[in-house]
Amino acid sequence: MAKKIVAGNWKMNKNLQEGIALAKELTEVVKNPNCDVIIGTPFIHLASVAEVIKGSCIQLSAENCANKASGAYTGEVSAEMVKSTGAEYVILGHSERREYYNETPEILKEKVELALANGLKVIFCIGESLEEREANKQNEVVKAELAGSVFHLDAEAWKNIIIAYEPIWAIGTGKTATADQAEEIHAYIRSCVAEVYGAEAAAETSILYGGSCKASNAPELFAKPDIDGGLIGGASLKAADFKGIIDAWG
Ligand code: PGA
Repeated sequence: MAKKIVAGNWKMNKNLQEGIALAKELTEVVKNPNCDVIIGTPFIHLASVAEVIKGSCIQLSAENCANKASGAYTGEVSAEMVKSTGAEYVILGHSERREYYNETPEILKEKVELALANGLKVIFCIGESLEEREANKQNEVVKAELAGSVFHLDAEAWKNIIIAYEPIWAIGTGKTATADQAEEIHAYIRSCVAEVYGAEAAAETSILYGGSCKASNAPELFAKPDIDGGLIGGASLKAADFKGIIDAWG
């Protein structure tokens, strides 16, 4: 069975002090969850938040890393640097990175490889736009995103990949995919993984749903057999909201 996971993606929110305060609050309210709990924070929070969550059930993720190993790349943060903060995960391929920072499948492939080489697990995001969904191209789009950046990995490396399906039209819009819509494409994604890595590896792969997931809709989404948890943006910014989603795992 795939691991159940609720992961937060703070995006570009919270200054350092606010981020530390939220992480502290989470360590106080999240106890013995029935899923893995990860928080994805901006780079500058990582080292401090790693200290705050030490010994708790909460794990840490970056939201990005560079596609270069080290050197003269002003302003970039490498996978090795991320790992050295205590973070264990990195979110890659988020639609906001693809759209606003022109991250292509090739760039993402480089980032994925560097992340894995440095011992990070990757939360790899895929998902179609509204136009693509309206043209019924969602399956084609997600398969191409996987093929373009992660399906070249060997079976051992694949064990460190978590997939997050996030329909772009549902991100931050309040418009969630229905649980049936999400389940349909999650099952398809799992079948794509099975084609490359086999049925057993596909069953072990965590496939998270993201896009306006909140405490009120999480139970219905998480009840679906191919939805192994969520990648949470807006609702990860308040401890009570995030805990509400974690509690959907009962
Ligand atoms: P949202 O964002 O929960 O605010 O829709 C999800 C994400 O982009 O990861």
